[in-house]
Amino acid sequence: MNLKNKVVIVTGGAGLLGKSFIEAIADHDGIAIIADINSEAGVKVKDELLRKNKNYKIDNVNLDIVSKTSINKMINEVINKYNKIDAIINNAYPRNKNYGRDFLDVEYEDFCENVNLHLGGYFLVCQQLIKFFLKQEYGNIINISSIYGVVAPRFELYNGTKMTTPVEYAAIKSAIIHLTKYMAKYLKDKNIRINSLSLGGIFDNQPQSFLEAYKKNCLNKGMLNEKDIIGTLIFLLSDKSQYVNGQNIVVDDGFTL
Ligand SMILES: NC(=O)c1ccc[n+]([C@@H]2O[C@H](COP(=O)([O-])OP(=O)(O)OC[C@H]3O[C@@H](n4cnc5c(N)ncnc54)[C@H](O)[C@@H]3O)[C@@H](O)[C@H]2O)c1
Repeated sequence: MNLKNKVVIVTGGAGLLGKSFIEAIADHDGIAIIADINSEAGVKVKDELLRKNKNYKIDNVNLDIVSKTSINKMINEVINKYNKIDAIINNAYPRNKNYGRDFLDVEYEDFCENVNLHLGGYFLVCQQLIKFFLKQEYGNIINISSIYGVVAPRFELYNGTKMTTPVEYAAIKSAIIHLTKYMAKYLKDKNIRINSLSLGGIFDNQPQSFLEAYKKNCLNKGMLNEKDIIGTLIFLLSDKSQYVNGQNIVVDDGFTL
């Protein structure tokens, strides 16, 4: 599978998963654009990856996914430089300072703010990119969802830790899957496809008790590494998946079974 000269934007491209997506796109001969609100982190990721391989094609743009002005500025910057956008991966992970509280402690204002930032941001990026893709007459969108958009939380996994599945996360990630289907249908006959990717938990030095409990719910490995998702992501970005459209693809080592 090859992404030769495909221009692919990754929102939240400077984060944990974003960085590995950027590297994978560059590894497959694509032009990978880091689009992050944290420009400094974006520059760092770009420099680090270019030190690893000077032939990578990686660029950097500033983006705030909840600002229409910022999204359109990003589109214009990319178009002025590369003349096209082949695909965008909605991967940013905005959350406010109170995010992650126990269900009973979540204030209405925080619930709304987090839904606005994350779900609202994914909606806005899709809407603005779709306006552009309709003019371009093709496009490809991948929305990053989660296993917790597919199944109910397994709260027992968090016993003895400060972790939880935030209620906003469940609402946001399940809605992203349905929003994706809505938009795929809306785009009938437009040569623009849109899928979501529901990822299992990614190892990031979580507490040992959690890792062990999580693994018992999986079929082989348990928590995944960033690299474990790459094959599916590249497939969805490549022309080999031309007729995969409106789907939610789950990569989770069987956690949701
Ligand atoms: N890490 C996991 O275990 C896991 C599992 C399943 C799904 N996911 C999903 O993968 C995606 C990436 O997660 P991650 O763990 O890499 O997160 P992360 O926090 O490491 O990175 C998120 C990035 O988004 C950027 N960002 C935040 N607000 C933004 C905004 N308004 N506009 C543009 N960029 C913004 C941040 O600066 C950061 O670089 C998220 O959608 C997350 O829900 C993660």
